[in-house]
Amino acid sequence: MIQKYTHLVPLLQLILLMGSLEAGCPVYLTISLTGKTQQDAFLEINWGPNCYGPPQWVGIYSQDPTISNFQPDLRINGIFNTTGKMLTPIKLGKLRFPGGWNKQDSGDQTATQYPTGKCLPHYVASYNGTELLTVDCLKIQPNWMNQIKHVDRMQLKDTFLPGTHASGAVLGSSTKSNSILVRDYLVAQQLDVWSQLVFGIRYLDFSIGYKNMNTEKDADNFWIANENMLITPLLGVLRDVRQFVKRSAEMVVLDFSSFPIGFYKHPEIYSSLFRLLRQELGDEAYRRNVSKDENCANRNFRELLLQKRHLVILFPTQELPYPEKESNMLCPPWQRFSTSFMNISQTLDYMRLLFSRKPDSPVRNVGWIFTAVRSMEQTLNAHQLQTSKERAAVLNPKVNKWLKGPWGNNANVVAMDYFSNTNIVDLAIQVNARKAFIMANNDYINLEIFNLN
Ligand SMILES: *[C@@H]1O[C@H](CO)[C@@H](O)[C@H](O)[C@H]1NC(C)=O
Ligand SMILES: *[C@@H]1O[C@H](CO)[C@@H](O)[C@H](O)[C@H]1NC(C)=O
Ligand SMILES: *[C@@H]1O[C@H](CO)[C@@H](O)[C@H](O)[C@H]1NC(C)=O
Ligand SMILES: *[C@@H]1O[C@H](CO)[C@@H](O)[C@H](O)[C@H]1NC(C)=O
Repeated sequence: MIQKYTHLVPLLQLILLMGSLEAGCPVYLTISLTGKTQQDAFLEINWGPNCYGPPQWVGIYSQDPTISNFQPDLRINGIFNTTGKMLTPIKLGKLRFPGGWNKQDSGDQTATQYPTGKCLPHYVASYNGTELLTVDCLKIQPNWMNQIKHVDRMQLKDTFLPGTHASGAVLGSSTKSNSILVRDYLVAQQLDVWSQLVFGIRYLDFSIGYKNMNTEKDADNFWIANENMLITPLLGVLRDVRQFVKRSAEMVVLDFSSFPIGFYKHPEIYSSLFRLLRQELGDEAYRRNVSKDENCANRNFRELLLQKRHLVILFPTQELPYPEKESNMLCPPWQRFSTSFMNISQTLDYMRLLFSRKPDSPVRNVGWIFTAVRSMEQTLNAHQLQTSKERAAVLNPKVNKWLKGPWGNNANVVAMDYFSNTNIVDLAIQVNARKAFIMANNDYINLEIFNLN
């Protein structure tokens, strides 16, 4: 009888928690992949999944509509379908982060902690007549990992880490990114790495190219690459990552996943990249136990914090000469799965195989990365040359929707191009909060029973 009770209380709490997370018809904002520049991107309204009682109307505001009776900047009637997405004429505008979270804000002052995220001045509210049903906003999540209770005790392989693919392939100041080919086909993210992290992304994927620039610093020779083109210098990106984890104390996984230019049969260039990583990130990189031969996915956030470190660096250590290949600041790569060469229906089948974790699933009990992208070749086969934005505009919302069901509970890393047209960060936070809660209360239950004996 007592045993039953101890089970029941957390269960009730869990039901309440889930009830509050799942409103009748969730309505949220994302950044569409329209517009030449980030500022010109239009916002989009999303609703669902499973809106059984759709709202009568939805308003978009530049101020919090719960504080006062502001008139909406835009009013939309007639959301009938149970799920959908609608482009608005409202532009994102220049991104300014509150609370000391702009890249250029001084690192001397501590940045404000935002336990449940912080709204940017773009709100969406749904109504039935004058009755307010839901409010949400476009928000930054610079502190989410530190704020979810017990998530620091979950092994990394059990944590849903929202990620980006080709994370550094951003339209930038570098002249290399000026050509149409690069801009339309090789740039893979709207937001730079700093902003991605502020929005809550916790896994970054880097393709590295090497080109001798004939400068004095070896660091100048390393570039972020995508599909065989150099896009932007690596050094600035590494420094942004370092600055972010110093300011936020969050954990980030850095995956050096491919080396398409200049590395082939050049172990000394791999060594040289290793030295750059050690110099720039060495004091923040988690040190693994090398004699255990593990890839760090069984570790948890708390173990990183015990070392006062915040980065997990994944690197193909076998490419390095001895002794670098045994460096304790590099973790061997995790399992990778990509949808590059699949169409949408194949992608759904593949996700079913991977995320249902049935016995025939190729996902082992290790860290794994699901990269939801479509390659240029795949769309070429379909006789249409789509830009990388066009590809992500179709694929991302679908993957996002499929992860909202039970599959999300089995996700580890999910990486996308142009993630900003989804709410994958909010989704990951919900899943992790739920899993951490269950894990913590299992301990609690066991402890209670133990004490009674
Ligand atoms: C909206 O109001 C109508 C009539 O008052 C009611 O029938 C309906 O269930 C309400 N819908 C929601 C989502 O609350
Ligand atoms: C609702 O769904 C129908 C059929 O799938 C589609 O034609 C229509 O455009 C959708 N409407 C909205 C507002 O998304
Ligand atoms: C590293 O792993 C080995 C083998 O499991 C173990 O004996 C050793 O104590 C570990 N070292 C540290 C510092 O944890
Ligand atoms: C996806 O590809 C498979 C295999 O090539 C093909 O049978 C199927 O018709 C394609 N589906 C779509 C929607 O294009």
